[in-house]
Amino acid sequence: MRSTTGWQAHGGTLRKEPISRRDLRSDDIAVRVDFCGVCHTDLHGLKAHDGESPLVPGHEFTGVVTEVGPDVTAFRVGDAVAVGNIVDSCGTCSMCAAGQENFCREFPTLTYGGKDRHDGTTTLGGFSREYVVRDKFAYPLPSGLDPAAAAPLMCAGVTVWEPLRALGVGPGMRVAVAGLGGLGHLAVKFAVALGAEVSVVSRSADRADDVMQLGARDVVVSSDTESVQASRDRFDVLIDTIPVAHDLAPYLALVAMDGTLSQVGYLGGITVEALDLLVGRKKLTSGGSGGVPATAAMLEFCAAHGLTADVEVLPSARVTEALDRLERGDVRYRFVLDLSDLG
Ligand SMILES: NC(=O)c1ccc[n+]([C@@H]2O[C@H](COP(=O)([O-])OP(=O)(O)OC[C@H]3O[C@@H](n4cnc5c(N)ncnc54)[C@H](OP(=O)(O)O)[C@@H]3O)[C@@H](O)[C@H]2O)c1
Ligand SMILES: [Zn+2]
Ligand SMILES: [Zn+2]
Repeated sequence: MRSTTGWQAHGGTLRKEPISRRDLRSDDIAVRVDFCGVCHTDLHGLKAHDGESPLVPGHEFTGVVTEVGPDVTAFRVGDAVAVGNIVDSCGTCSMCAAGQENFCREFPTLTYGGKDRHDGTTTLGGFSREYVVRDKFAYPLPSGLDPAAAAPLMCAGVTVWEPLRALGVGPGMRVAVAGLGGLGHLAVKFAVALGAEVSVVSRSADRADDVMQLGARDVVVSSDTESVQASRDRFDVLIDTIPVAHDLAPYLALVAMDGTLSQVGYLGGITVEALDLLVGRKKLTSGGSGGVPATAAMLEFCAAHGLTADVEVLPSARVTEALDRLERGDVRYRFVLDLSDLG
């Protein structure tokens, strides 16, 4: 085993501690983690943590390769890489064969809180100085992308990228993004770069200026009945990134005939009135993470468009502050931890 330092959960708080990484398998690379984004899923994970299995959050990171296994040909020591929220899959099921490792029939191995397919250990995430990952699930970081601002592309980014692509978002389409946080602001940037006409559905109009800077046209204020009414049946695609259980009816009302609401934020049980789908033949879908080909395509797209997240970078010692502020919605639009303070 190898030893590194990470931020491990104890009763909902994170403590800096030595953690173990596996010795490299033949197709593994070791990555010095430089930057890791703070996702709302990390908050959910910390709140739900029962202490039975270890928890080191963090599943969108960038860094540099420090060692490669004997069968690795795609990476060399010194390469800049990016890793997201999936680090392995069965590789043989129909989903994996189709390049949708995120939907692996055996369930993909998650970057943290997952079960390693070989040794059964619980995976520990990127709030640490080193990560050991199978080469297939690491991606070359395009040289034009800032490593701190690129880290959130690997979870927040690809989670909205895949549905936007699957729904054919492009010129002539009207897209709404509900919840202007980590996922939401990247959904806006992607949809704008793909040529769509983009609006934001937010709890307040406070961020209207920011929204324009991201390239969106306007804000639909979800608490303002008039604002919502004025945008009825307006959007071909609505990407819903709201992190809590909520009534979908007012959001479905914003979707145009034959349009689609993609619910990627809250992943628990939801109740939908069939009539809210019937009137206008509306569709409801979801998505999560991305397959290997889509993730690579997203990074290429980002490099071509100079597109990264808007980030506030903090030393990892301030992780608790980042989580507290994320919970309060006090972030524009993603915290990224600089792990260099872990040595
Ligand atoms: N499907 C997947 O694989 C996947 C991947 C990553 C994350 N997620 C989930 O996606 C959700 C969003 O993640 P994130 O990192 O983007 O979170 P975030 O940065 O906190 O953004 C969420 C946004 O939703 C809005 N919001 C927050 N609380 C709300 C409430 N109580 N009611 C209505 N709107 C609220 C806020 O936007 P406004 O202020 O504009 O209203 C907020 O900025 C989380 O639940 C996360 O677990 C899913
Ligand atoms: Zn995430
Ligand atoms: Zn599979």
